[in-house]
Order: sequence, then C-alpha cells, then structure tokens
Amino acid sequence: MTLLIRNLSQVATPLGTTGVRGVSAATLFILDNPVIVIENGMFAFVGSENQMPPDLRSRISEDFDARRATALPGFVDTHTHLPFAGYRESEFNRRLQGETYQQIAALGGGIASTVRATRAASHDELSQLVTLRTGTMALHGTTSAEAKSGYGLSLRDELKQLTAIRSAAASTPVRLVATCLAAHDFPPECSSGAERAEYVRLVCEEILPEVARAGLARYNDVFVEEGVFTREQGEQILRAGAAVGLRPRVHADEFSDQGGAALAVEVGAASADHLMHVSEEGIARLAASDTVANLLPCTSFFLMTDRYAPARAFLERGGIISLSTDCNPGSSMTESMQAAILLGVIQMKLTVEEAITAATINGAFSLGLAGETGSVETGKSADLMLLDAPSYLHLVYHFGVNLVRDVFRDGAHVVKGGTLMPDLRP
Ligand code: NIG
Ligand code: FE
Repeated sequence: MTLLIRNLSQVATPLGTTGVRGVSAATLFILDNPVIVIENGMFAFVGSENQMPPDLRSRISEDFDARRATALPGFVDTHTHLPFAGYRESEFNRRLQGETYQQIAALGGGIASTVRATRAASHDELSQLVTLRTGTMALHGTTSAEAKSGYGLSLRDELKQLTAIRSAAASTPVRLVATCLAAHDFPPECSSGAERAEYVRLVCEEILPEVARAGLARYNDVFVEEGVFTREQGEQILRAGAAVGLRPRVHADEFSDQGGAALAVEVGAASADHLMHVSEEGIARLAASDTVANLLPCTSFFLMTDRYAPARAFLERGGIISLSTDCNPGSSMTESMQAAILLGVIQMKLTVEEAITAATINGAFSLGLAGETGSVETGKSADLMLLDAPSYLHLVYHFGVNLVRDVFRDGAHVVKGGTLMPDLRP
C-alpha cells in the first residue's frame, strides 16, 4: 500500500537517527504545504509535491486529505508506570488540602497502596488496563512508550506486570518497550535492614535473571532516593541487571540529591529521570555523557512544587534531554505528552522546538529506537500525528485541548478523526 497524505498545512520534525544535543534541539525541519507518502509502513517521501519522484507517484494507491493539519512525528514517552491497578484520587485530594506526597506515603499510602491493588489484580486485568491507557496515549499522539513494572515487588507480581505489558503490546497502537522496576521501593512486608538487604538480593539474584531469561524487559530501573534505595544498592542492582543484559535507567535525584545522575553516567544508563534536585556536578556529568536527562514536568506540576528539573542548564551544557509523562497513579496521573510539552515550555523554559525534539527523537534515542522512529523522514517507520492546527506552535499556544486528529503507527491508521480504530478499542 502506498498512501499519499495531502493538503497538509505544515510538517515540523527533528531529523536524524541519534539524540540531538544541547541547543541544537531547537532546530526543526519545517516545511509549509508538504505532502507525505507512506509505503509499506515507512515514510517514502516528505517534501513538496512537485519534487515527488515520478515512480513513487505512479505507485500511490490511496490518498488521505489532511484538511490543513500539521504533521509531527509520533511522541515517544520514555517513562511510564502503566501496569498499575487502582487509583489514588483521595490521596491527591489530601495533597490539595496540604498533606505532602511523603507524608501520605509514610501513613501507608503512596507506592505501597498501589502495590496492594496491583498484587490483587490478575494478569488479564492489568493487561486490559495497559490496553486502555495506551489507547489514551495514542489518542494524544504517542506512538512509542516505555512501560515499567514496580508495583509488584515480588518475583511473581513483577513478572505478572511485565507479562501484562507483553500481552497488551500485541494489540495496542503504541510500540511498547518494557522496563523492570522491581527496585521501585521495598515491599511493604520488608521493614528491617536485614529484610531490605534480602530484597536487594532477591532482585539481583532472582527477579532480574528471570526477567531477562523470559525476555520480558529491555531495561532495569531503580528508585535511588532517601528512604528507598541507596546509591550503593542502586549501583548493585543496576550492575546485576546489566550482567544479564538489561540496560540501566535510573529514577535519579527526584526528591533529594543522592548522586543519582552521576550513578546513571557511571553505569552507562540509557537515561537518568526526574532530576528535580540534581546537583551542579550531576548536571555537568550527565550533559557530557550519552545518558539522556529525562525530564518529567508533569510530576512537579502534579506534586504542586515549584521545583522543576533544570532543563536549560542541561541544554546549555550540551546534554541530551527528553520529556516524558511519568504516567502513574500517585505523582502524575496523565497519559498526555501534550501536557508534558506544555509544562516543559511554560515551566522549564524550553522553546516549543526544543520540547518537540525532546518528546520525539531524543526519547527514541533513549529507548534505542532512534534509527526507526522519532522523526518524519524517509526511511523511518511511519509514526506520525496530524494536529488540528495550522502550525506546530499551536501545540503549546492552543493549550488544554487535544489537538491530535489522526495518528499513524508503522503506517497503520490507528487514530482516525480523533477516535481509535474499532479493532484497537479496549
Ligand atoms: O516516578 N518516583 C517514584 N515513582 C513514581 C511515583 C510512583 C507512585 O507514586 O506510585 C514517580 O514519580
Ligand atoms: Fe517514575
């Protein structure tokens, strides 16, 4: 099948097959009145219609009227906690009354409450929840996403979450990459130092090897934080994962500076995420490395703090930044990359162009997918959204509404006129 998308107002995209460093992220390829041709699931042509090769033109078998939409690459959301059961809206309401996230966690809420609900859920229930949430992601323009376990905190329940991701991946519009986050927290039943040490052993010697053996994840993540995993435990867990082929990612310096950014660089992590409290040294180390600084502005927003990760400092020092939702029931209950971009621009002072690069090609780079997605250019998988807008600037300018009208993933029309295709509906 060779599909011509015509009557576009604009295409705006980063280019290339690797992460874009520093302020180069501000450079997008922008073309007014382009056409896009998709053939066999890939972009075959992006440009002015009069420059389309005649042989390609002769193969066009279908034609889609974009009705003056703006085309952007599908978003790549590289930090989500998708397979969770239960919601925490009452905790959110308590936070609105002044309680903090940490106070609620200390009283048995927080991650522990989602662990209880997720342990009680079946594989099929979790898989349906992943399908539901990835459908919402696609409706908002996401075509690739990372999904973490981390609410099981036992061999059985971590495997159940990862298997649910794998089951859902077969029928969702979003390309899913799984991460084992068995080290999201200590299980609620482990409180003594000895019990916690035993859990670190279980993660290193049983959970990660089994996850790798079953091919259930590509990455391994640890929450390095005061009261959770120490930097040393984090390093031990990340190295144990790497030894069985799981590349590190790190929840780093979210609530306090624990040297998480430097640890991420030392273990060669694909990303260091959160970074609200990253030190000057952490910024410098990350910026000089290929580890992507993954910034999660929805989390700062939803935790109602003024503290956002220092996005401009990373860019000014030449680092690679990405933007993600951190979709989870506690600290960021959203599937919308448009929300992450809005907050990245308004609160972190990214330019709209930098935010688009961060939400597409740089996310793809951090998931090892930059050769196949993250930009609208010939030779890449046709992962594309059409915005109901005359220019890409509307993505931030026209805020609080979903501008995505159509989404293609690997050339398949997964969202049409703002609705999921019937075979993809949960
Ligand atoms: O990324 N930082 C730790 N994990 C999540 C929060 C998880 C939760 O509250 O359930 C995060 O913000
Ligand atoms: Fe997270």
